[in-house]
Amino acid sequence: MPILPSARILAIETSCDETACAILENGRALLASTVASQMDIHARYGGVFPEVASRQHVLAIVPVVEDTLAKAHLTLNDVDAIAVTRGPGLAGSLVVGVNAAKGLALGRGVPLIAANHLEGHIYSAWVHNAGESVPDEPQFPLMVLLVSGGHTELNLMTNHLEYKRLGSTLDDAAGEAFDKVARILGLSYPGGPSIQKAAEDGDPTRFNFPRAWLEGTWNFSFSGIKTAVLREAKNYQAQGRSLPVSDMAASFQAAIVDVLFNKTMNAAHEFGVKEMIVAGGVSANRALRQAFQNQKEFNVHIPPLSLCTDNAAMIAAAGYYRFALGHTSGLDFDIQPTWPLS
Ligand code: KG4
Ligand code: ZN
Repeated sequence: MPILPSARILAIETSCDETACAILENGRALLASTVASQMDIHARYGGVFPEVASRQHVLAIVPVVEDTLAKAHLTLNDVDAIAVTRGPGLAGSLVVGVNAAKGLALGRGVPLIAANHLEGHIYSAWVHNAGESVPDEPQFPLMVLLVSGGHTELNLMTNHLEYKRLGSTLDDAAGEAFDKVARILGLSYPGGPSIQKAAEDGDPTRFNFPRAWLEGTWNFSFSGIKTAVLREAKNYQAQGRSLPVSDMAASFQAAIVDVLFNKTMNAAHEFGVKEMIVAGGVSANRALRQAFQNQKEFNVHIPPLSLCTDNAAMIAAAGYYRFALGHTSGLDFDIQPTWPLS
């Protein structure tokens, strides 16, 4: 790793249904962050409606960038580079952010950095609010559990921007399972927070939902548990009984946390790491955070709640390390709706 340059990066993230902008100094210190959520609009459809999402980004992108600069008491002249999410994500959403970022980089004559959204989730572990105490910097090698709405993977991270993917989901992502099960239980979108809330008063041992361990691999599978919840719900409906929503939510959440936590612990043992990162939208889940925080064997980095779900601070952090290693992008790149981490 060369000596890291000092740089103030403005980042834009529009991969799904949040229009986000942030300004970050030297890869870690967050000066300002704005996330304009479209959640209320998509809740009506029970999930993200892609065309509506891209048109909302068109409406929100300029005010979100202006608000972020105002919060940081800066102008575009104070920014050294622009980072933007190139993928993975929804095509119609990505193009809005990428075009805005190209315009800013062209207008200011500063470098543009194309960042990977999954890498962004991982680099949220490096971010802290400017002026607040600086948390320990993650040390390599690291075991990374990345759990979001679109992805669930275990990666061994050996250095900045270097990953070995050990396994990933064979079907649904963990966040997707939360969203689908919430719908079965009649809970609102997004499913993760609604299930977490319903589970607070529930008995996590009432239903023994299946855990797909997929022994001998580092892969995951969550479609079986979703089907098991559906089957149970149909049994209740057939008997004219109301669903024990809290107990079902708590039992489902316990099963998901059990698999995510234990597979990550096993991988960390097997690969001899001392540190872990847990990141992505599902890392906001209280039960999952507690499981990792209660263990004492590994030093675990879990971003604060505001950085777990989609935001631009994480894109600025990932962008900074690409910038530091000389990976700027030019202005002629296309979006990449499917862009694996490794
Ligand atoms: O990372 P993210 O904001 O977007 C993607 O990149 O996919 O993750 C969104 C996912 C959704 O599936 C949402 O239900 C889930 O993260 N999520 C949660 C919680 N908060 C968000 N899942 C479980 N518990 C939560 N508290
Ligand atoms: Zn995400």
